Amino acid sequence: MPLDLPTQAPTPDPSTDVPTRGRRADAALARLGAAADAAPAEAARADATDAGLVALVGELTVEEKVSLVVGAGLWSTTAIPRIGLRAMHVSDGPAGVRGVAEDGSETSASFPAPSALAATWDVDLADEVGRAFAAEARRHGVDLVLAPQVNLQRTPVGGRHFECYSEDPELTSRIAVHVVKAAQDRGVGMCVKHFVANDSETQRTSYLARVDERTLREVYLEPFERLVAEARAWSVMGAYSGVDDGELAAPVLEHAPLLTGVLKDEWGFDGVVVSDWVATNSVEAAAEGGLDLQMPGPDGPWGDGLLAAVRAGTVGAALLDDKVLRLLRLAQRVGALEGFAPQGAERDEVAAVDVAGMLRELVARSMVVLRDDAHALPLAAPAIRRIALLGPNAVAPFVQGGGSSYVRPDRTTNLPEVIASAFGGARVDLHAGAVSRVVPPALDLAADATTPGGAAGTPGALMELLDAAGTVIAAETVTRWDGWWHDVPEQAVALRIRTTVRLDTPGRHEVGVGTVGRHRIVVDGQVVSTSDRVVGEDVILDSSVNQPVPALLTVDVTEPRTVEVDATVQAAHPVGYRSFARAELVHRPPVPTPDELLADAVAAARDADLAIVVVGTNEEIESEGYDRTSLALPGTQDELVRAVVAANPRTVVVVNAGAPVVLPWLDEAPTVVWSWLGGQEWADALADVLTGVTEPSGRLPWTLPAREDDVPVPDAIPADGVVEYHEGVHVGYRSWLRLGRTPAAPFGHGLGWTAWSYVDVAVTSQDEDGVDLDVTIVNDGPRAGREVVQVYVEPPAQSPAGDRPVRWLGAFAVVDAEAGASTTVRVRLDARAFRTWDTARHGWVTPAGTYPIRVGRSLTDLRLSVGVDVGSSSSGQSSGTRGTPT
Ligand code: BGC
Repeated sequence: MPLDLPTQAPTPDPSTDVPTRGRRADAALARLGAAADAAPAEAARADATDAGLVALVGELTVEEKVSLVVGAGLWSTTAIPRIGLRAMHVSDGPAGVRGVAEDGSETSASFPAPSALAATWDVDLADEVGRAFAAEARRHGVDLVLAPQVNLQRTPVGGRHFECYSEDPELTSRIAVHVVKAAQDRGVGMCVKHFVANDSETQRTSYLARVDERTLREVYLEPFERLVAEARAWSVMGAYSGVDDGELAAPVLEHAPLLTGVLKDEWGFDGVVVSDWVATNSVEAAAEGGLDLQMPGPDGPWGDGLLAAVRAGTVGAALLDDKVLRLLRLAQRVGALEGFAPQGAERDEVAAVDVAGMLRELVARSMVVLRDDAHALPLAAPAIRRIALLGPNAVAPFVQGGGSSYVRPDRTTNLPEVIASAFGGARVDLHAGAVSRVVPPALDLAADATTPGGAAGTPGALMELLDAAGTVIAAETVTRWDGWWHDVPEQAVALRIRTTVRLDTPGRHEVGVGTVGRHRIVVDGQVVSTSDRVVGEDVILDSSVNQPVPALLTVDVTEPRTVEVDATVQAAHPVGYRSFARAELVHRPPVPTPDELLADAVAAARDADLAIVVVGTNEEIESEGYDRTSLALPGTQDELVRAVVAANPRTVVVVNAGAPVVLPWLDEAPTVVWSWLGGQEWADALADVLTGVTEPSGRLPWTLPAREDDVPVPDAIPADGVVEYHEGVHVGYRSWLRLGRTPAAPFGHGLGWTAWSYVDVAVTSQDEDGVDLDVTIVNDGPRAGREVVQVYVEPPAQSPAGDRPVRWLGAFAVVDAEAGASTTVRVRLDARAFRTWDTARHGWVTPAGTYPIRVGRSLTDLRLSVGVDVGSSSSGQSSGTRGTPT
């Protein structure tokens, strides 16, 4: 049963409107030509449902039109009440819906970081996450969620790795399509980000990703293409970074061949291209490039410049009309435009969604059993009366990465209490066991500090806002301080903070202040840091504002004493964001040495029936705005794991991280579970997994390196402003395979808590759209479980492999089966799985041949294979309609 696809000579894939450079140029010319016509370009193509919107565009003044394509604030678009248009509200994404309150006061359901969803490989759960996005958006009055992020995990050090789904385009695309469709079916728009090749953070507002055309098409554009084709995404966010695809080297927002040529003209995207926040740097170039909505507003280049450009004729009226039509179409879809029926057949269903319950199940399901030699999971709870709960991340779990995806959670939990109750009231001894953070904790202003001056002193610190002349324009004494003074008046240039810190405990103290921008910090009469560098929105975009490294004074105390802190820090007025002054007041009192911490933990482990060691990353390591510099677990955590495993053979190691960390002790630890950045339900989900309520049925959506030196793309540091995608189409595991390197755990790995045999694979049908495979597996373990059947494609032996990957994910399916049960699952291998991009012809081709199809439990644990003939000429047999064990 051959696939009826183009063969031999590269010919275009019939399912795709193939672009060529010539055709792109034609499209661009047509657009420019249309600018001279009265009819807007998009209006000319509009179908009947758009007719009313087109007419509405015609009713607007040019001022109104311009106001629509520029944000009205940080999180809102412009309202025009006279046409029944209200403001639309937008909000991050992608680990929940933060809400639009400027003071950050709203709480939200905190979802796990998106890689956890991808680790379920479960499109039904992706549907549920889409529903939860819709429910949360509705609850917060949000029309457009700035999610999902479908950039790929090109390098494990990428700062936003945790916000992405996977290193694989197929897994990313399928999960994302389900999330977006489910949300939009409920009338909430999703803004898919960040178009395109925005896969690392170093110099993120300026670097150029040099990616060849084929790699862009086969890897980095694929999720966007499928979201347009299969989910009809209503919005796409254009990245800060730029792309050099050989045709044009330009910031994405000015990259007309990609943003307009491919996204809009070729794929037919009819939604709104939104700028990443403060990413717009030009008027004409961005307008021509394809940007539709500058966010935030009203400040920024379009705020001042677009009206003038339209009046001067340097931005065509029809081009502006096209943007306005897109905006109105989005408004109609979300229900922000009176008189136009909103979209989303299931708009009213959101009220019934149990978001927290779904998240708990999702997070438990996402956990990946990396190792469980003795089949210890799930743990027999009644026999366990005393638990040593160890590790820095047991004391302070890290459940959300840093940056714009952060939400204020609806609920916080206490891990020791959750564990104690899950194990029927067992005694839980909690010990950090290791250090893992560089930044000292916040100074306790109420307990340890007084305002300067008075001998008795008032608890707290004196805060004074100063203008340029040094005059105090506002003053406050605070005993609670979160490090931020928001919305400082325009004339404020600095914040002065003075406090007297009591150092009572003998030993080594560290006292200091973390800030950004111009400052002078004096502690105990010593200037510990000064800077003249004035900052604005740059510190928000590189996230240094979130975790400023404090300037510290070390004080050795023998007798109780005090130190004065006198810090003057910059008041910042960033374009597009709220003004602020930033000062983290920190104090580390004498702490046990790492050896002492370790000794305590080991003693507790020895005395316990069970040791649970929770190690991982933290806010200092995983965040938007910067990439990681190391894949090691921070601090002394590796030593902790080794020592505890040696002290108590009944140890479960839980890794609490989003992106890969090297686990040098992996072969020594009997049971290791990867638990992600699990959001607000993480602790309960972990307890469910340990006690057997829910199977940890996750599979890695990326490769876990054994050693840093093996990583094919170890960094993404731009050279002269350029990040070279030198590995081409060999993203993630594809490079590991090509280079013959063995990771600690391959892509797709995860053991669950039962065992599976793979019995049979058969091709059941085949046509021009793809192949159906029936895969039969048996759960021959002791309990009901869930398997992720993974189908990989290899290039045909008889056709030149060229530079095709050694093996790539083609399809997958999730299967549940009772203990002992055999089950057959149908897996659909789309024709897309065989295609490749022909750069010479600028089109898709499918080289003919017999493609080995490998079926198994991970990229390298392959159990069955079957050949599939692809090619139109031979109408005969597939080389193997029934598979063979491998
Ligand atoms: C991030 C986006 C985010 C936006 C709004 C940007 O800095 O790159 O992902 O949606 O801020 O918070």
